[in-house]
Amino acid sequence: MPAPAEPVLRAADLHKTYGGGLLRRGGVHAVAGVSLELHAGETLGIVGESGCGKSTLARMLVGLEHPDSGQVTFHGKPFARGRRIPREVRRRVQMVFQDPLTSLNPRMTILDIVAEPLDVHRLAKDRTARRARVGELLELVGLAPELMNRFPYEFSGGQRQRIGIARALATDPEVIVCDEPVSALDMSVQAQVVNLLSDLQKRLGVALVFIAHDLAVVRHVSHRVGVMYLGRMAELGDAADVYGAPAHPYTAALMSAAPVPRPQARHRERIVLAGDPPSPVDPPSGCRFRTRCPQAADVCASDTPPLQGPGTHLAACHFAAFGA
Ligand SMILES: Nc1ncnc2c1ncn2[C@@H]1O[C@H](COP(=O)(O)OP(=O)(O)O)[C@@H](O)[C@H]1O
Ligand SMILES: [Mg+2]
Repeated sequence: MPAPAEPVLRAADLHKTYGGGLLRRGGVHAVAGVSLELHAGETLGIVGESGCGKSTLARMLVGLEHPDSGQVTFHGKPFARGRRIPREVRRRVQMVFQDPLTSLNPRMTILDIVAEPLDVHRLAKDRTARRARVGELLELVGLAPELMNRFPYEFSGGQRQRIGIARALATDPEVIVCDEPVSALDMSVQAQVVNLLSDLQKRLGVALVFIAHDLAVVRHVSHRVGVMYLGRMAELGDAADVYGAPAHPYTAALMSAAPVPRPQARHRERIVLAGDPPSPVDPPSGCRFRTRCPQAADVCASDTPPLQGPGTHLAACHFAAFGA
């Protein structure tokens, strides 16, 4: 087997707390030690309930926000701490936002919105080249180039998200972090936009981080999947492993709209997730999932389970159940 290539993007033990007093006590520990790798041309799905830190992680991955500790590296080079991210990294690592209405300036034409990154990075040699490139990008996302003189309100939600994707593609990125790109869209158009992203990922070879709050959304497009709970990664692995044999009770619960057979369980159990996650201001000791976990034992309150596993399939659970 060839040695695995250096990942395009690597996050090492990222922490981010909002608010709070001295030493950030009483603050919201939104991301509490997340590490991941993104390889060239792959799609990494990140899933978790609202408030678990997905957007905070996304903003740190593209350099819109600095971690309190930990590091993001692009091709092995760390993002500079407390300073502006180098132009080359900003060019190559792009983001698609959740709400295409608020992320597109209503007073700008589609031409100017999609061309903005070209202007910032001086990638169009003149106005003709700029228009041509925007036309090309609109075609790439399935929109007619003739529409470029219109304004965002003239488009549907799905079309606006296509515009957001065209803008993200303008600079020939190596990585696009998509933060719940279809959550604000009607069910009927969600699949179209998911398929478009998956198709672009294959055609352009760009690496995608695809964030969703629902495991089902990213199922068919992710090579690997990470499941977040209250600021931490509960499970991370190849999509086939995570969906085929979820090792963490939280993942199993998320999937148990349909019953999940668990190899070591005596019965096929349907795990129901009761209530909301606890507050990230005062998370449970030890395993953060233990207050909602059907398998919780004493050790779960005293010891924080590390994210580990037998191979590439990792789970942060003292009782992780890895498939054969
Ligand atoms: N700018 C901010 N200021 C204060 N708290 C924030 C900020 N952004 C996020 N949070 C808090 O951090 C936690 C994680 O938020 P977020 O990363 O948006 O989660 P998700 O995207 O998974 O819903 C939440 O408790 C949220 O209220
Ligand atoms: Mg979010």
